[in-house]
Amino acid sequence: MHLDVGRHFFPVEFIKKYIDMLALLKMNTFHWHLTEDQGWRIEIKKYPKLQEVAAWRDETLIGHYNDMPHQFDGKKYGGFYTQEEVKEIVAYAAERHITVIPEIEMPGHSQAAIAAYPHLGCTGENPGVAKLWGVFEDIYCPKEETFAFLEAILDEVLELFPSRYIHIGGDEAPKTRWKNCESCQVLIKKEGLKDEHELQSYFITRIEKYLNSKGRQIIGWDEILEGGLAPNATVMSWRGVEGAVAAAKQGHKVIMTPTSHCYFDYYQSNNDTEPLAIGGFLPLEKVYHFNPIPEGLTVEESQFIMGAQGNVWTEYIQDQKQVEYMAFPRAVALSEVLWTSEENKNYGDFVNRLEHFHKRMDVLEMNYANHLYEIKGELLSNEKGSFYQLQPGETNKTIHFTTDESEPTSQSEKYNNSIPVTNNLHLKAAVFDENGKRLSTVFEETIKMHLAVGKNIELSVEPSNVYSGSGAAGLINGIQGSDKRYGDKEWLGFWGDDLVVEIDLGTETEIHTIKTRFFDAVGQWIYAPSLVEVALLDSEKNSLSNQEVTLLGGSKNLKNLEVNINNLKARYIYINIKNYGTIPDGAQGAGHKAWLFMDEIFVE
Ligand code: ACM
Ligand code: ZN
Repeated sequence: MHLDVGRHFFPVEFIKKYIDMLALLKMNTFHWHLTEDQGWRIEIKKYPKLQEVAAWRDETLIGHYNDMPHQFDGKKYGGFYTQEEVKEIVAYAAERHITVIPEIEMPGHSQAAIAAYPHLGCTGENPGVAKLWGVFEDIYCPKEETFAFLEAILDEVLELFPSRYIHIGGDEAPKTRWKNCESCQVLIKKEGLKDEHELQSYFITRIEKYLNSKGRQIIGWDEILEGGLAPNATVMSWRGVEGAVAAAKQGHKVIMTPTSHCYFDYYQSNNDTEPLAIGGFLPLEKVYHFNPIPEGLTVEESQFIMGAQGNVWTEYIQDQKQVEYMAFPRAVALSEVLWTSEENKNYGDFVNRLEHFHKRMDVLEMNYANHLYEIKGELLSNEKGSFYQLQPGETNKTIHFTTDESEPTSQSEKYNNSIPVTNNLHLKAAVFDENGKRLSTVFEETIKMHLAVGKNIELSVEPSNVYSGSGAAGLINGIQGSDKRYGDKEWLGFWGDDLVVEIDLGTETEIHTIKTRFFDAVGQWIYAPSLVEVALLDSEKNSLSNQEVTLLGGSKNLKNLEVNINNLKARYIYINIKNYGTIPDGAQGAGHKAWLFMDEIFVE
């Protein structure tokens, strides 16, 4: 397991608790991510400004990076581990058979160090310790002073960490500064390098030589493949598994940590009530289905896969309770996956054992997440009508529900079969154990019946497979998406495409209004459409009306469409939607295609 202490800083006592949990799960390595743009967290005696300057940022972003405009909290934030504390943690881990591997990032994610020692950058200017999240252009300039600085830091690091491996970062290092730096360009010529990627490779190889000369080996993120791998490097594959396959085929050792299965900073549930996270979606079951041996390797090549790691990046994780919430129980699933051969994996059995493990985590005062009993629901329509179906998460526990706004208890109606839906319905449901104790959060769904529910719908293009929600039928299931999160299953997302929606009501039906809404969040590349037309047709597909519609500003991030139809009797409804197009200069994602997100279409 990994932990980022750069974005947020966690006390020694918590690091020990984290190590205890790793020991309990038979994890044998702790990857301690100690340096970042937003803070340098390890005492280096030779360079006091790392403690005085690089360990502190003036303030921190409030909310999500995507919320525009950015706002800051105005509070100085930081801290670092003294060398005595580091020794104490390394010894504590060793007693529990855990090796601590420190990460000292280079050449990127080094803005805090450059803020302390600006001459180490290409421009000589002080960029300040970062207070926003992201990837920054101020990276170390590969000049002699920089290598002297890093080697002196590594000398102190090696004294503290007896691990065979030292992680040197290597990820997300934009080459902008190097392209415009005279010293970098002279070095490229002098060393006969092709470009800035080969310059990064030169940088990493030089550090590798230094560490090898001290009897140590390097680990780097998979970007160290670009421009050529350093001869003895181990690759940590995070941007998928391609880096793992490429490195193993070159005979290099690999650690698997793909975002798809190992990023425990991603959301683990679609509940509206989940605490703010960076994004993504990685539920427990998906972690359990991880196979650390990527496809495309021979048996011999797969010997280079040393293991896998869960990553806990802490941009949106402010305190230790939240680290526990994000890391557990996903780390429990990862541990089992790593110590179990593929044919012995059984998710149902794991869930049963996890219920018992909860008791141990309760005793250890762990703020673990529990989404095991979370209810899933969906509206199904067929020739007999519409029905709402509930599913009790992973277990065969009992669901009780109400339809009168009251809180469900174990005395409420028991859910057996799907619930017929003929009128508007506000459903509340929860999972209970045999003693009547509520196990889940209360699941709520509001179904608003309208003329199109359960009718036929066709889309001219498929939604993106990342935002396919509950499919086209989800646009006429009577259920509106979240006002805040476009990632739920009621919103459909289309990337760059124009869209025509065709609804067939089956018979000519008198219509009064048609309403829907679009998401509008330009910081997230999501734009309301540039044009919407609504057309009505009779059973012979003769046009009855056709109008261009102006969208109205709704609440934050929403644009509403509302069309009054003068009681026309129509069978077919066409909604013709033109995508915004290319994102303009100056905006986030400029030059890329805009996303279009559409919600329930109410026909009344
Ligand atoms: C990473 O997530 N930048 C390794
Ligand atoms: Zn430079």
